[in-house]
Amino acid sequence: MVQNLEVYTGSKVIIKRDADELIDFLKRDDFVPDLIISENMAGDEYTILKVYYFVNSQKLDVPVILLGENPKIKGKVEEVSRTDWQQVIKKAAALMTVTAEQMIELNVPEYYPFPTGILRGSQELGLSVFKKQNESYKVWRDENSKFNEEEIEELLLDGIDFLYILNTDRLEFAKSVSARLEQLLTNEKDTKNLVGLTGESFNTVATLLSSMGITESTIKASQATINAIEKIANSSPKLEDLLSILLKNPSSIAWKHCLMTAVVSQAMLDNVDWGTNEQKAKLVFAAFFHDICIPQDHLATIHTGGELFESDLKKEEKVRVEKHAFSACELLQNHPDVPYGAENIILQHHGVPNGIGFPEDHLDNRITPLAIIFRVAEDYVHQLLDRDEKPDPFFVLKGILQRYTKGEYLKAAEALKAAHPKLVD
Ligand SMILES: [Fe+2]
Ligand SMILES: [Fe+2]
Repeated sequence: MVQNLEVYTGSKVIIKRDADELIDFLKRDDFVPDLIISENMAGDEYTILKVYYFVNSQKLDVPVILLGENPKIKGKVEEVSRTDWQQVIKKAAALMTVTAEQMIELNVPEYYPFPTGILRGSQELGLSVFKKQNESYKVWRDENSKFNEEEIEELLLDGIDFLYILNTDRLEFAKSVSARLEQLLTNEKDTKNLVGLTGESFNTVATLLSSMGITESTIKASQATINAIEKIANSSPKLEDLLSILLKNPSSIAWKHCLMTAVVSQAMLDNVDWGTNEQKAKLVFAAFFHDICIPQDHLATIHTGGELFESDLKKEEKVRVEKHAFSACELLQNHPDVPYGAENIILQHHGVPNGIGFPEDHLDNRITPLAIIFRVAEDYVHQLLDRDEKPDPFFVLKGILQRYTKGEYLKAAEALKAAHPKLVD
């Protein structure tokens, strides 16, 4: 139902377990949704009554759909049978004033893109693969025919960074890709190849997550990627070597950020007295997920409120950037295995406690020390990656030491300084 709702009404569904969680959320974020859909009961509590009274007492002016019936509020909310999902979607669309025309426009696309590079090293996908030419899709390989390494390289050289499968094959694709990624990533021993492969895998998982959300396959694929990042970080690579591998391959900005932030923040943790392996695992997990909702280059480059304000992004894109930390946590709500504390890093990685927007004070000390380590690492990485000329890590470090001068921020900057000999030759 959730997926259908999102597809047909073009909305983003946020799931809350019970009335308390929803009310907490509405209070905490000062956020008014376009619509609330509620069960009649959760456990032995009348969820709908709590929800309705809250919405009413706060004069929230949000329409409410009840999945079922409740005589106490008959006529005050829209009652729809919980098994009739088509009716639920229709009602939801009507209440959110999504028109029939828009609903058709928002129909599921027939083809689903994936990064071409993910096919490297394999010979078949067992699914028909399409190539986009002008505005139409042509079969590149049918489900029974094979391909080889050279053909993939040729496509990439021609600038064909994405291939397509039928939308209906998505689930199959996710399953086979996650299994393959796991295998490839565990078997690769050479760091250079591993960095390239993990990058492809990062981009694939980002695409899968954005269309399928958290599922068994996407969890597997992201875990395989996270393990590979850990492996790279544990091999104590020099930043210069990493940079030269990353800059040679046309990899996404989000991926470069993710990997470098993981490596740098891990090294910093070796230089704070409370750093443990468990904390390190949290940092890698956070590095993977923190910008997962804005993997596109033109969104991932924005790191301050000023940059966002001056950008010529569309309004929806600006909102996406503003909320990306918060949205990543929303996405993770359905993930059963988030390491304790990692969610906090993700939420606070721009220094704002509730994960929405950018801070005015870059030394805002309301965030946790681990989030501060992550933030300082990311700032350093951001500056290393965003220079046209060859970056000078010592120059960037000097800037960091001048910028982070108080409390935990100062400690984090000093940890970076102490980690520098290990990171830089
Ligand atoms: Fe980031
Ligand atoms: Fe971010």
